[in-house]
Amino acid sequence: MPGTKQHLTTATVFLRTFGTWAGAALGALCITGGLVACGGGAGDEPQAQAFSSDMRALGAAKKVKGVNEAQALTPTEALGKAIFFDKSLSFNGNQSCASCHDPAVGWTGPIESINTGGSVYEGSIPGRFGDRKPPSSAYATSSPILHYTIDEGDALFIGGNFWDGRATGERLGNPAADQAQGPFLNPLEQALAMPADVVGKICAGEYAELFKTVWGAGMCNADRVAEAYDQVALSIAAYEGSSESNAYTSKYDYYLKGKVKLTKEEKLGLNMFKGKAKCSQCHVLGAGPNGEPPLLTDFTFDNLGVPRNPDNPFYLNADFNPLGYDWVDMGLGKFLESRADYAPFAAANFGKQKVPTLRNVDKRPHEGFVKAYGHNGYFKSLWSIVHFYNTRDVKPTCADPFTREASALAMNCWPAPEVPENVNDEELGNLHLTAAQERAIVAFMRTLSDGYQLP
Ligand code: HEC
Ligand code: HEC
Repeated sequence: MPGTKQHLTTATVFLRTFGTWAGAALGALCITGGLVACGGGAGDEPQAQAFSSDMRALGAAKKVKGVNEAQALTPTEALGKAIFFDKSLSFNGNQSCASCHDPAVGWTGPIESINTGGSVYEGSIPGRFGDRKPPSSAYATSSPILHYTIDEGDALFIGGNFWDGRATGERLGNPAADQAQGPFLNPLEQALAMPADVVGKICAGEYAELFKTVWGAGMCNADRVAEAYDQVALSIAAYEGSSESNAYTSKYDYYLKGKVKLTKEEKLGLNMFKGKAKCSQCHVLGAGPNGEPPLLTDFTFDNLGVPRNPDNPFYLNADFNPLGYDWVDMGLGKFLESRADYAPFAAANFGKQKVPTLRNVDKRPHEGFVKAYGHNGYFKSLWSIVHFYNTRDVKPTCADPFTREASALAMNCWPAPEVPENVNDEELGNLHLTAAQERAIVAFMRTLSDGYQLP
C-alpha cells in the first residue's frame, strides 16, 4: 500500500500538468483569435483579463452571488465554471451542479424548505431523491486520494470525495475530478444516460469553442467521447480548486494574517474548539495536506452517532430503496465492502462519514435562513450540533429512533445512532461545556465564511 507521500506527489504532478495546460490554452486562445482580442487595439491589457472580460460577454463567467472574484480565472477554470452552472447538462434541462452547491449557501443546498426537512435534494427528474445532504463542493479539491495508514494496528482511511470517500481520485488523480463524473449520469441527480450526452451538449452549446480551445480541437469528435468526458471532469475540478471556490477570505483567515481581531466570544469559541471541546482533533486548524491555510478537516472518517433523519425522502423511494425505513446509511464501510482490497476493513468502518470542512458552514443568504448539518441533515442549526457533541451521552435516549431534532430538543433526549457500530465515544458525547461555551463555539464557526469585508 503506497503511503501518503506518494499520493501527494501524484497530486503535485497533476497540478503542475494542469498549470501548463492552462498556460498553453491561453496561448492557443491568442492564436485562434476567436475569443480574445490578443494584443489588439485594447492596449496592453493582460491576457487573463482580456480573456475574462470576453468570458463575461459570453455569459459563462457571470458574477455569482456570494463569491468575491478577486482574481481572473484561467481558461480551464472558466470552462469548469461554465459547466458547473450549466443547467442544460441535465435530463430536463433544469439542474446544474450549483442547484445543489450554491455559493451563496456555502456551496451547498439553497432550498430552505428542503433544508428544514429531509435535506436531500431532488434530481432533474421529479420525485427522484438521493440519500444524503449535499456537502460543500468548495475545498473538496484538497482531499488526497483515498488511502489508509496503519494507526495503532487499525487501518485509518484518509481522503476521497463524497461522505463515504467513494470518489477515490484513483482514476483521474484527484478525488474532485473523479467526483465530477458522477452527478451527470446519476439517475437521482442530473440523470443523463451516458458521457456522450454530456459532451454532446457541451459541444453544441455556447462555450463549445472554449472547450475545444482548452482541450484540443478534436475533443468534440464522436470517437473521443471518453477522453472528452475526463476533460469535463478535470475542468470542473480546476474551477473547484480556483480562488473563487477556495477563496480563503473568511474573518478567521484575516485574523490569522493579523488583519482583524476576533471578538471576545469568538476567541473563547476558538479556544474551546482547540481545547475542551476537542473539535480541532478532526476539524484541524493546522495547514492542509499541500500547505494550504487550515481546511478544518483532516479528511478522515468517523461515526458520531448521528440519528436518522425521519424526513429523508430516500426512505420512501421504493424504486431505489427496497428496504424502506429499515435502510441505514453504512457510510465508508459500505464502500470498502465493495472492493476486494478494502473489504477486510469494512466492518470497522460501518457508519463512518467523512469529516467535512467547516469553512462556510455558517454561510447563508440571510440571517435566519435554515441550513442542515450532518450527512443526512439531521441538525438544523450550528448550536444544535454543538449541543449534540456536548450531550449525546448525557441525555436519555429518545424512545423513538425516528425522532426529529426539534422534538428531541423539546423532550431533552437524543435518538439512538443511525449506525450503532463504531460510534466514537472518546472525543465527543459528554464534553461538560456550559451554555455560554456552546454559544462561543458557534460564534467561532461564524468566522469561517468566505467573503468577509475587512472594516
Ligand atoms: C441533486 C443534487 C446534486 C447535484 C445536481 C450535484 N450534487 Fe454534488 N453532491 C450532492 C450530494 C448529495 C453529495 C454527497 C453524496 C454522497 O456523499 O453520497 C454531493 C457531493 C459532492 C462533492 C463532494 C464534496 C466532498 O467534500 O466530498 C462535490 C465536490 C460535488 N458534489 C460537486 C458536484 C458537481 C461538480 C456537480 C455537477 C457535475 C454536482 N456536485 C451536482 C448533491 C448534488
Ligand atoms: C472525532 C472527529 C470529530 C470531532 C472531534 C468533531 N467533529 Fe464535527 N464532524 C465530524 C464528522 C465525521 C462529521 C460528519 C458526521 C456525520 O454527518 O455523520 C462532522 C460534522 C460536523 C458539522 C456539520 C458540517 C456539515 O457541513 O454538515 C459541524 C458543524 C461540526 N462537525 C462541528 C464540530 C464542532 C463544533 C466540534 C467540537 C465541538 C466537532 N465538530 C468535533 C468529525 C468530528
